[in-house]
Amino acid sequence: MNSPTLARIFILRIGHRVFRDSRVTTHVCLTARALGADGVIIADREDKVVESTIRDVTNRFGGPFEVESGKPWKHAVRDWRAMGGRIVHLTAYGLPLPKKLSEIHDADADLLVIVGSEKMPGEIFKIADWNISVTNQPMSEVAALAIFLDWFRQHREFDREFSKAQVQIVPSKSGKEIQQLPR
Ligand SMILES: C[S@@+](CC[C@H](N)C(=O)[O-])C[C@H]1O[C@@H](n2cnc3c(N)ncnc32)[C@H](O)[C@@H]1O
Repeated sequence: MNSPTLARIFILRIGHRVFRDSRVTTHVCLTARALGADGVIIADREDKVVESTIRDVTNRFGGPFEVESGKPWKHAVRDWRAMGGRIVHLTAYGLPLPKKLSEIHDADADLLVIVGSEKMPGEIFKIADWNISVTNQPMSEVAALAIFLDWFRQHREFDREFSKAQVQIVPSKSGKEIQQLPR
C-alpha cells in the first residue's frame, strides 16, 4: 500500500443552502481542516459568511487551508479531473471504506471528496471513481468525512503541523489555555 501522506485532499460540499446549512457546512470545513484536508469548495451557492469564518480560524490557528464558494459542482469536478485528480463520493449506498481503502491509497492521486447535504444529483454516483460508505447506515456528512479522513491519513491527525498560526491551544488537564505565537 502506498503512503498517502503527500496526496492533496479537497472536499466538495454539494447542496449547501445558505443560512439553513451554514452551521453544518462550517463544521464540514472545520473538520476537514483539523483532520488533514487542504481545502473545501462549497458548490453552486456563494456563502461569504462561512468563507470568512473559516478564513478567520485559519488565520488564528494556522494553515494552509483554502475555502471558496459558488463554483458550479460540474466545473469543480471538470477542473479536478483536468489536474489528474481522482474523486471519492461519500454515500451510505457505496462500497464499505475498509474494503476500498488500499485501492484508494494505491491510486496515489490527489483526491476530491464529495459530501452532500440533501439528495445528491444521480450523476455524482457515475462520475465518482469510488462511491464509499462509512457503514451502510445514514449518518451526518461531518461524521462520515471525519472517519474517512482519519482512515485515509492513517490516524496521523495529531501529528499535523499548522503554519503561520497566531495562537495555539496548549493541551490541559483542566481549563482552557491558549498560547500567543511569535509572528
Ligand atoms: C445527512 S446525509 C443526507 C443524504 C440524503 N438524504 C440522500 O438520500 O442522498 C448528507 C450526506 O452525508 C454523507 N453520508 C451520510 N451517511 C453516510 C454514510 N453512511 N457513509 C458515507 N457518507 C454518508 C453523504 O455525503 C450524504 O450526501
